[in-house]
Amino acid sequence: MPEVGGARVLVTGGAGFIGKRLVAALLAEKAEVTVVDLNPHPDPGVVSVVGDLRDPGVRERAVTAGLDAVVHLAAVTSVLRSVEDPAGTYQTNVEATAGLLELARERGVPRFLLASTNAVTGDVGGVRISESLALRPLTPYGATKAAGEMLLSAYSGVYGMRTSALRFANVYGPGMLHKDSFVPRLMRAAAEGRGVQVYGDGAQLRDYVHVDDVVQAILLAWREDHDGPLIVGSGTSVSVHDLIDAARTVTGAPIPVEHVPAKQGEMPAVVLDISAAKALGYQPRHDLTSGMATVWPDFTPSAAE
Ligand SMILES: NC(=O)c1ccc[n+]([C@@H]2O[C@H](COP(=O)([O-])OP(=O)(O)OC[C@H]3O[C@@H](n4cnc5c(N)ncnc54)[C@H](O)[C@@H]3O)[C@@H](O)[C@H]2O)c1
Repeated sequence: MPEVGGARVLVTGGAGFIGKRLVAALLAEKAEVTVVDLNPHPDPGVVSVVGDLRDPGVRERAVTAGLDAVVHLAAVTSVLRSVEDPAGTYQTNVEATAGLLELARERGVPRFLLASTNAVTGDVGGVRISESLALRPLTPYGATKAAGEMLLSAYSGVYGMRTSALRFANVYGPGMLHKDSFVPRLMRAAAEGRGVQVYGDGAQLRDYVHVDDVVQAILLAWREDHDGPLIVGSGTSVSVHDLIDAARTVTGAPIPVEHVPAKQGEMPAVVLDISAAKALGYQPRHDLTSGMATVWPDFTPSAAE
């Protein structure tokens, strides 16, 4: 079984939301961590390669011989930005991924884990999403992640690299101050005594998974030598209203709601089958209330001082 302790690992996007949490867990396991990111990693115990992964020279500096694994998190992560700039999204999410894989092959790196998304399957109505569904992404973001998954599959098939595409649900947790997704929006609204806009009737179902459960799944996929796609969620879908209620409970703020017309193309439901991850030993530890309580301290007025 591959060891994480003592391993040499490159984390791309390691200065981001999920990356920082993963790097902390890897350091706790005594892994040797290098981060490549547009921004330096704040921990001096981490080797930082600062630069843009679209630049082949930056990739060259990051992927060194002797690495035991690459965890590839760096990406254009916003669906909206991907719609505005599909070509730029392709360069970051596909070309840079292909470049990293090729260097990993040339330099004998045996393991490559990619942050993918359940958006690769597109709108399946209320059907429970498992790894066996066809990929029909509806946005440049989903399409570029699906393309990344296909590249991983080829490098596994032909070169024997162990490649794992971890399809994260909506991730939340500490460290989201720079994010504009719904959970940090709720927290900002609570802190500032404002309300939030809800698209449509708020009955849309989503799976929210805590960042520490995501980190658990990444380490598990590595240790269990997992190869192929793997859905990583909480396994419980909640409505936008449930999410707002949990935020009200945790923050004590009323967070009034204004309903606005639903956005075109929004999926009515995301219901995830996490049995494959569970079969590897994955067990989500946070429910919505315990998880939301870990996000709130970043947004309280004393934290901002
Ligand atoms: N957060 C979620 O809900 C979620 C859900 C599904 C999948 N994912 C995936 O997980 C990964 C990490 O997401 P996150 O939420 O931590 O995002 P984030 O934006 O907080 O972190 C991404 C990091 O990648 C870096 N980066 C972006 N483009 C780069 C480039 N060209 N060169 C070098 N570094 C670059 C950024 O500087 C940032 O530090 C992404 O691949 C994202 O698509 C996230």
